[in-house]
Amino acid sequence: MKFDVRDIVRANILKLESYSSARDEFKGKANIFLDANENPFEGAYNRYPDPLQIELRNKIAEIKKIDSEQIAIGNGSDELIDLLFRIFCTPGVDNVIIPQPTYGMYKVSARINDIEIREPLLSDEFDIDESRIAQSIDQKSKIIFLCSPNNPTGNLLITEKITNLLLSFSGIIVVDEAYIDFANSASLTTSLAKHSNLVVLQTLSKAWGLAGLRIGMAFASKEVVTLINKIKPPYNVNSASAQLALNSLQNIERKDEIVRNLITERKRMESSLGDLSFVQKVFPSQANFFLVQMNNARKCYEYLLKHGIVVRDRSNVVQCENCLRITIGTPDQNKKLLEVLNDFN
Ligand SMILES: Cc1ncc(COP(=O)(O)O)c(C=O)c1O
Repeated sequence: MKFDVRDIVRANILKLESYSSARDEFKGKANIFLDANENPFEGAYNRYPDPLQIELRNKIAEIKKIDSEQIAIGNGSDELIDLLFRIFCTPGVDNVIIPQPTYGMYKVSARINDIEIREPLLSDEFDIDESRIAQSIDQKSKIIFLCSPNNPTGNLLITEKITNLLLSFSGIIVVDEAYIDFANSASLTTSLAKHSNLVVLQTLSKAWGLAGLRIGMAFASKEVVTLINKIKPPYNVNSASAQLALNSLQNIERKDEIVRNLITERKRMESSLGDLSFVQKVFPSQANFFLVQMNNARKCYEYLLKHGIVVRDRSNVVQCENCLRITIGTPDQNKKLLEVLNDFN
């Protein structure tokens, strides 16, 4: 959909004069910095970080082959989700579409921002149900949240259906690709040039193994990235995280090897879990976890806990009755899990 993003930005955000930090106002080289009320005695962290994370964005741009001006960095993608609500949705007025079941943070963030939530179900195969979504949309619908591969179901959404929504919806479509490195499908970032209403979220928390650093990425039009940078807290990514992330991003081979390893384990676990007599279904996964339907998920959850193994009970999630979500662990962890499960009755 070709639209002017300013048409759907909240009026107060369009008018906003953003906070101008010392580092925003002077970016050049100097011998003595007395402009930010920092502690002048040099140490690893006495200076504020770069508010625009230029170095980190350039590195990500190189890896992802995306213009750095189309990348915004958040304190985890959870922060970016919240910022998108604040840019596009007026509290008490607008609504968002969150097809279910999916990642719970979209809903929590909507509630924090006092935004009405509309929750059409995904199809029986957990794919986009175009007619249910169409019925949920009205003039006040500002964002549709899609997650591919989806959490907690593990499946990819069909790209053609996402494209149809991008073409027909005059709001923002967020495609959360937190688990895309584990999938046999290209990222939708390749469609950014065609769709100015597309925002793709990714994270360093999963395949890159850096959940503790809190680095999330939004790939979007330059206009949307500018809006994110306009409203985000000035120093949302700390210097230590940015530096450690940069170090890890030098080593793509390590990330690739871990991903290959987890995909091999995924294949092995899919068949081993499927062989257990009390397992009704192992949903096919393109992520680093499985949704597993059991005869009695709660009982199995508690049994595993007694043996020191924690999984996620998703039984209360719509369309996930009697389901556990099990993250794929190391070969040793998976072996132990299977041994314990083999003795469950
Ligand atoms: C679909 C999805 N998006 C985002 C996140 C959060 O990512 P981050 O650690 O970057 O905040 C998660 C975490 O589990 C997730 O499952």
